[in-house]
Amino acid sequence: MRTRFTEAFGVEHPIVQGGMMWVGRAELVAAVADAGALGFITALTQPTPEDLVREIARCREMTDKPFGVNLTILPSITPPPYAEYRAAIIESGVKIVETAGSNPVDHLPFFKDAGIKVIHKCTSVRHALKAERVGVDAVSIDGFECAGHPGEDDVPGLVLIPAATRKLRIPVIASGGIADSRGLVAALALGADGVNMGTRFMCTVESPVAQRVKEQIVANSELDTKLIFRTLRNTARVAANAVSREVVEIESGGAEFADIAHLVAGARGRTVFEEGDIDAGIWTSGQSQGLIDDIPTVAELVDRMISEAETIITGRLNGIVAAKAGVRV
Ligand SMILES: Cc1cc2nc3c(=O)[nH]c(=O)nc-3n(C[C@H](O)[C@H](O)[C@H](O)COP(=O)(O)O)c2cc1C
Repeated sequence: MRTRFTEAFGVEHPIVQGGMMWVGRAELVAAVADAGALGFITALTQPTPEDLVREIARCREMTDKPFGVNLTILPSITPPPYAEYRAAIIESGVKIVETAGSNPVDHLPFFKDAGIKVIHKCTSVRHALKAERVGVDAVSIDGFECAGHPGEDDVPGLVLIPAATRKLRIPVIASGGIADSRGLVAALALGADGVNMGTRFMCTVESPVAQRVKEQIVANSELDTKLIFRTLRNTARVAANAVSREVVEIESGGAEFADIAHLVAGARGRTVFEEGDIDAGIWTSGQSQGLIDDIPTVAELVDRMISEAETIITGRLNGIVAAKAGVRV
């Protein structure tokens, strides 16, 4: 499958593994690269910019295929040293960056000067257009179904992606709710040049989270997510569990961040992933959980998605067109 995205970014398949806090480490990203898709190391998972440099080097030892780094720029009371992480990415010689969280305009000139291609991940058509205007090379657009931050507009991918692709000139990656070949074909039909997946890649053999978490994703249905931080206008879609239910309950009574801070601490979420105690804290997962029934290797997942997508296009869809034309199939 060749799209404007595969051509521009030099990857074999139109499939991206987006940045994932605590999950986007070298093991997963190298496996994604080896499978011919585009993976992103998550910069802020590394405690310091120096650790990020080491993680990038570790990933290079595992694969000779291209991969990128995600830099998530979220509003924060004590922001991480973004400029130092940015410098670490540039010095490491990585040539693809995924920005997310807020407008990348302050960082873009530095990446452009270093010959780095930037995919900006956002959640609305207006933000995608703004990113195009400031010069990013592609956008990833997260629909309401997605894991993590879906924004506050609540527009699902089925509307959001075609609303975006009919206005944008740069390549568009559809993100959120995609976990299999049907999602890939649908995204291409909606005008996208590729797909981005988080939850599906988190539930693979190479993903560095506890087996118990992967089993819980398989067990969960599309109903088993919660939207937290709605009342703070910083919505996040996370797995339903004892902690996320409690957060939603407290928020429904009118809460300030201080009332829930102890429940949503990042360190608690990290414990979930490292120790497999699924009620230890908040952990990110999307509605695409409902489409996930197994824990394949990354290569099995990518190969399956591509071969099944080709079968859907040349078989079922072609059959529908042929049947309409009166051809026996
Ligand atoms: C565990 C987890 C952590 C994530 N952390 C980040 C992050 O730090 N930065 C970011 O831009 N996106 C993050 N995301 C969002 C993904 O990159 C992707 O946009 C999203 O998962 C797409 O929706 P899907 O899960 O339905 O495929 C995270 C997703 C998951 C599942």
